[in-house]
Amino acid sequence: METVTLKIFRYDPDKDNVPYYKDYEVPVEGTLLNALLYIKDNLDPTLSFRAFCRSEVCGSCAVRVNGKTKLACKTPMRELYEIWKGKPLKVEPLNHMKVIKDLVTDIDEPVEKMKTLMPWLVPDPSVVPSDPMHESIIYPEEMELYKDQIHCMLCFSCYSACEAVEDNERYRGPFAFSRAYRFQVDRRDIETAKDRRIRYAISGGLWSCVQCQKCLHVCPKGVKPAEDIQNLRRRSIRKGFTDKPGAKKLKHYVDWIYATGQINRLYLPAEVYGDSEAVEVLKSAYKSMGAEVWEVPKPVKGLLKFRDTYLEVLSKSEEKAMNIDFSHVREIDRLVSDFFKADVCTILDRALSKSYESKGLVDRLKSLLGGN
Ligand code: SF4
Ligand code: SF4
Ligand code: FES
Repeated sequence: METVTLKIFRYDPDKDNVPYYKDYEVPVEGTLLNALLYIKDNLDPTLSFRAFCRSEVCGSCAVRVNGKTKLACKTPMRELYEIWKGKPLKVEPLNHMKVIKDLVTDIDEPVEKMKTLMPWLVPDPSVVPSDPMHESIIYPEEMELYKDQIHCMLCFSCYSACEAVEDNERYRGPFAFSRAYRFQVDRRDIETAKDRRIRYAISGGLWSCVQCQKCLHVCPKGVKPAEDIQNLRRRSIRKGFTDKPGAKKLKHYVDWIYATGQINRLYLPAEVYGDSEAVEVLKSAYKSMGAEVWEVPKPVKGLLKFRDTYLEVLSKSEEKAMNIDFSHVREIDRLVSDFFKADVCTILDRALSKSYESKGLVDRLKSLLGGN
């Protein structure tokens, strides 16, 4: 029988001063959960792990294998064997959670964090009938809006993999934002609850997500917390919550990249954190490093095409929350023209006249942004 070594994390806080790893030889067949059950039944009954449904429903069997989060009942041993070429497989409990014993972690903290985002329906009486004998209908097109999020089974794989949780223990966690989002787009939820939920999401770290996308890759149910977080951010901006550094940073990126093709690394801290002294500090720091210092970045090649594509997308999109602030772009364009003694359209027109034939766009930009 073909076998492989599972190097399993062992820790009993009542007996052990520190965790240790113990090796078990298991058959390369069935799932990782089968292998853990094999150890429990045949080799070591003291091993603790969680599992219940054995069919990817309850979410209780998630562990880490060689650092990657896996649902034990969904992961074939053959696959692990082949990926790691027969080498020992280190099996550990989920990250960012207190270990109760061996592979069993304490889920209370992430669940309590999730509850702070109000992941439940607050019925709008004008939409939801007060008489329980009358149905509150959900139409198929409404269901489309949260058909993925409702499959979250609280396996905490995304929480374990999350970079933002790693950085900030107050960060609520990917699944928590997906669950909040699910109610944020529910027509039956009252508007005042949506406002509160956005406030709670912001104080729970909505802008701390670094968009590493790990949550999206590890989720066994196809939930996409990274996307839900982006959508919650859009909704927060649309509701006027624009005073947070994350929202200001986004605005800086959108405005400056739209206007010039790059961020203004000198003015970013001043625009985001209101720290005007940082401009001079950064200026001398960049100089001392021999780096170029731009008061205003020169518009990059390809920007005209980028603006064209952006306007195209924007004109089709129903999502207006990320709209460019054209008055701000006009202001940046004015800075560019003061600095380079020519307006953006002329600079770009000159730079790109050979490679990009869109004279119509230059006129369109001129009418939108000003310039001669
Ligand atoms: S995309 Fe955001 S929420 Fe998802 S794992 Fe990365 S930091 Fe965490
Ligand atoms: S979002 Fe996916 S990975 Fe995260 S807890 Fe829910 S099911 Fe698990
Ligand atoms: S045992 Fe339920 S999801 Fe694995």
